[in-house]
Amino acid sequence: MIYITRREVFAASHRLYNPDLSEEENELIYDKCANPYGHGHNYILEVVVAGEIDPRTGYLLDLKELKKIIKENVIAKVDHRHFNFDVDFMKGIIPTAENICIGIWNQLAGKIPAGKLHSVKLYETENNYVEYKG
Ligand code: NI
Repeated sequence: MIYITRREVFAASHRLYNPDLSEEENELIYDKCANPYGHGHNYILEVVVAGEIDPRTGYLLDLKELKKIIKENVIAKVDHRHFNFDVDFMKGIIPTAENICIGIWNQLAGKIPAGKLHSVKLYETENNYVEYKG
């Protein structure tokens, strides 16, 4: 089994807020991340695909192809967007790094032509990242 990783960066905004909770509870849980107008991050995304090498090409998967799949299904939908308002796959979901990571996994699952999606890692800051393996 071999693993390949494609890294992408994007900028996006979010506000951590649960409309089912009171203002006080939101403030207590999310602190300044619940500020009404949101805030931005420079996210780093790492998509790992696992599988066997194709003996004809020596590739598991052409990274150009993986790049294209990520661009079309994720980056085009999230870059310079606000997760609470204009990202279709996050509608009604609190846009924590955890939930965004799962959302991105769902966007990519089943779209990788060779090998299979192994993990999605999302860095929200230099020190904080989440990882989802399905
Ligand atoms: Ni944030």
